[in-house]
Amino acid sequence: MTPPVDGSTRRAVLAAGAGTAVAGAAAGVAWASRPAAAAPGAASGGALSATDGVVPFRGPHQAGITTPAQDRLHFVALDVVTDDPAALRDLLTAWTRAAERMTLGAEAAPGGTVGGGPYGVPQDTGEALDLPAANLTVTIGYGPSLFDGRFGLAGRRPEALRDLPAFAGDDLDPARSGGDLCIQACADDPQVAVHAVRNLVRMGFGVVAVRWSQLGFGRTSSTSTSQATPRNLFGFKDGTANLKAEEAAALDEHVWVASDDVAGGAGGAGGPGWAAGGPHLLPRRIRMHIEVWDRSTLQDQEDTIGRDKKDGAPLGQHGEFTEPDFHARAAGGDPRIPVDSHVALAHPDHLGGRRIRRRGYNFTEGTDGEGHLDAGLFFVAFVRDAHRQFVPMQRALARADRMNEYVEHTGSALFACPPGLPDGGDWGTQLFG
Ligand code: HEM
Repeated sequence: MTPPVDGSTRRAVLAAGAGTAVAGAAAGVAWASRPAAAAPGAASGGALSATDGVVPFRGPHQAGITTPAQDRLHFVALDVVTDDPAALRDLLTAWTRAAERMTLGAEAAPGGTVGGGPYGVPQDTGEALDLPAANLTVTIGYGPSLFDGRFGLAGRRPEALRDLPAFAGDDLDPARSGGDLCIQACADDPQVAVHAVRNLVRMGFGVVAVRWSQLGFGRTSSTSTSQATPRNLFGFKDGTANLKAEEAAALDEHVWVASDDVAGGAGGAGGPGWAAGGPHLLPRRIRMHIEVWDRSTLQDQEDTIGRDKKDGAPLGQHGEFTEPDFHARAAGGDPRIPVDSHVALAHPDHLGGRRIRRRGYNFTEGTDGEGHLDAGLFFVAFVRDAHRQFVPMQRALARADRMNEYVEHTGSALFACPPGLPDGGDWGTQLFG
């Protein structure tokens, strides 16, 4: 069982269901650290369970990947600004402690907000003090540039962790792309997600600096069969055919890096074996030209996606979860689902069986200065190998997708997520050995 994060006595907590003991114990610390009034269940002295808003931080895989997508996102990409490997390693270790505490609903450091007294700099910024854990997950990833030799990590770069090629139609802004590291914070309360990122960034002063960041306000994909399918800013159901958390065998095949995938490199303890069990995290900031979309007919919109707007069914068929029939013909003889529709091009039948796990968010960020909303989809994919899965898929979409008339990719990066941490483990030791 995970040790107490601040030495406080854990409450006896009954976790609902098998395998939730860690979450339950964790919740005890969480609510001990924040006012009881903020803790569902705690006020009545009742038992807390995994449904009380705490997602277990430790396990074989990091949280925030198969966790049913929360409502809010704060994503940040950072560059390392020190040349001292020990400083980076120590920061990763300190981040682990703080991230675990915050996912429990606790302050980033014990007594962090005011416990340091009037003359100390607070070790927690305080804006989440009265808020529950809100299903916060903190997921970390490492970009190819982290392994360029500055920190003695060159031999630990997994071969597949290399920059993506350019795609037709890309309009990538370097200020919104790349990064040595990333932190994905997801929660059901935006303030909780922002607090997590803010405090980790604060701790990293002098070691890391923010390169770019992205807020997301609504999940665009269902990621679990337990969730209803949400809609993206085009108004279409998104996530219908997503790779869901319950598909264990498919996750092994398409999401989790296998030991054999990273058996090369320098080998042994100094090699890339640390990456086994963690997927590639692939964010793409996709601007959606929603004013153009909003002037197109319903038929154009449905032909673009390849699905019915109201129910999400494949065109010409019934039921959201009906498998698309790409051989069905319309009255004139053309395929009922256009061959250049988004769904036809992205479907595994047309991509050699390739699948990805999508976990994106909607965003709107003011205007583009020309009278349009700067809005879109912050696409996040989790894949076992970005070059074998995402690249052929995005090439097919970039070449022919009807949707290209309405979207523009403005940011991109690639990170390798380490696997989950065992009890007592930390990100610094996991990466540096
Ligand atoms: C703004 C950009 C995008 C929008 C609005 C969008 C929207 C949609 C919608 C509405 C669906 C149908 C429902 C579903 O199965 O989830 C879908 C399916 C899908 N999309 Fe996207 N998408 C976007 C970008 C991308 C990108 C960049 C990729 C990958 C490179 C991608 C991969 C997929 C896949 C794999 C499916 C499932 C296809 C199937 O098996 O039927 N999408 N998308």
